[in-house]
Amino acid sequence: MIYFLAVIAAIAGLLFGYDEGIIAVARPLLEVDMPLSPAVAGFMTAAVPLGALAGAIVAGRLTERFGRRLVLMMAAALFAIGAAAAASIGHVMELVAARLVLGFAIGIAAVVAPLYIAEAAPLRIRGALVSTYQLAITFGIVASYLMGLALTGPGMWRDMFALGGVPGVVFLIGLFFLPESPRWLMRRGREAEARASLVRLRGDGADVDAELAEIAAAARTSDRPPAFAALFAPEVKPALIVGMGLFFLQQLSGINAVIYYAPEIFAHAGFGSAQTQVLATIGIGIVNFLVTILALGLIDRWGRRKLLVFGFVGTAVTLLVIALAVKLPDLVPSWVVILALALYIASFAISLGPLPHVMMSEVFPLRVRGPGMSMASVSNWGFNFVVVFAFPLLLNTIGLAATFSLFGVICLGGVIFTMRQVPETNGLSLEAIERHLENGRPLGELRPGTASATT
Ligand code: BGC
Repeated sequence: MIYFLAVIAAIAGLLFGYDEGIIAVARPLLEVDMPLSPAVAGFMTAAVPLGALAGAIVAGRLTERFGRRLVLMMAAALFAIGAAAAASIGHVMELVAARLVLGFAIGIAAVVAPLYIAEAAPLRIRGALVSTYQLAITFGIVASYLMGLALTGPGMWRDMFALGGVPGVVFLIGLFFLPESPRWLMRRGREAEARASLVRLRGDGADVDAELAEIAAAARTSDRPPAFAALFAPEVKPALIVGMGLFFLQQLSGINAVIYYAPEIFAHAGFGSAQTQVLATIGIGIVNFLVTILALGLIDRWGRRKLLVFGFVGTAVTLLVIALAVKLPDLVPSWVVILALALYIASFAISLGPLPHVMMSEVFPLRVRGPGMSMASVSNWGFNFVVVFAFPLLLNTIGLAATFSLFGVICLGGVIFTMRQVPETNGLSLEAIERHLENGRPLGELRPGTASATT
């Protein structure tokens, strides 16, 4: 049951990736039917991150009140409605509205889906299961790029948008068959339902008593109402810093500059033909997807901290190599740029891609988990928006080498941030992480087996 739950909840990730990627390939066809001014085109592209920002803000409160499953059902319905609306528009402003709705649904689901998986997962495989969400994002990006290759006829941008509705409907149907999160039920005082849900999740004959007792104990200490102000309480703030900080670093690593503008980057690095640029872009999407699969196997084995340091060092070095290659084209052969870009994506996918999603679902105490994940997600979408908008400007002013150097230096900052602030949550129950925080111990010192983790 838990695998089924993870797969269904991860459909939200697929929609996230698909709607992020599809606009890049749909826009040329759309412009044939409806010419767009640069401002309108920009606004239409930005409508998804903007809607997602709004969705992320309300998601925490909605899910504390109505539960994980019901809120995801609402998001699923919005996905289907938004896709149908985008496919049948008559005017470009209607498309902006439809993409705002889609973004809103993505923003809600991007908070609630990882939360739902983390709260339902057995701790042994929690990291891997939450990472299926990131895998689904990368799959969605590749799927959208491939749609761009397959659907090239006039007006086919409508088919591209409509296809986004199919996973939305599957998502909605799948959710009907899933139980509510046992942790949310317990928090609402619905103990019998929490037990029934846990029994369904762990399978027939599983002994759920110990796990249920631990969940109940954490729920009892979390009777204060969840308010955004509670996130700034001294014992919760370190979790907020980790949740928001990791997404800040994820976005400022420049990932979406590469995902959204890969063809331009290849052009700047001296690759002229459009064909090479498109193929290289798809190649990047595929590397991102395949290496994320590898990450799934490593997250619960290597642990979070080691993988993060590995990823930040990898992205920093590759970004600086690309900067150097662009600055000194006579000294560094151009294939180095392609190789370094592939290694950059691989370093991201093995670590900076999945881990912020995993860790934001782990570090917040239950009573503020919803609002806390909302804030982490706001950091994700807010900085996504900033990077995607600033990148073309930076290219035109300081140039590619300086921009990539900037991203590289920020990744080096990520190494220091990880060593100082990020706990090792691998192998710890969500309740053990919570006890450590509530005891007022520095979060960055949390390791499996430390005294505060087990008392
Ligand atoms: C990020 C997205 C990014 C994607 C790329 C996600 O974790 O939040 O902004 O586009 O990874 O795989």
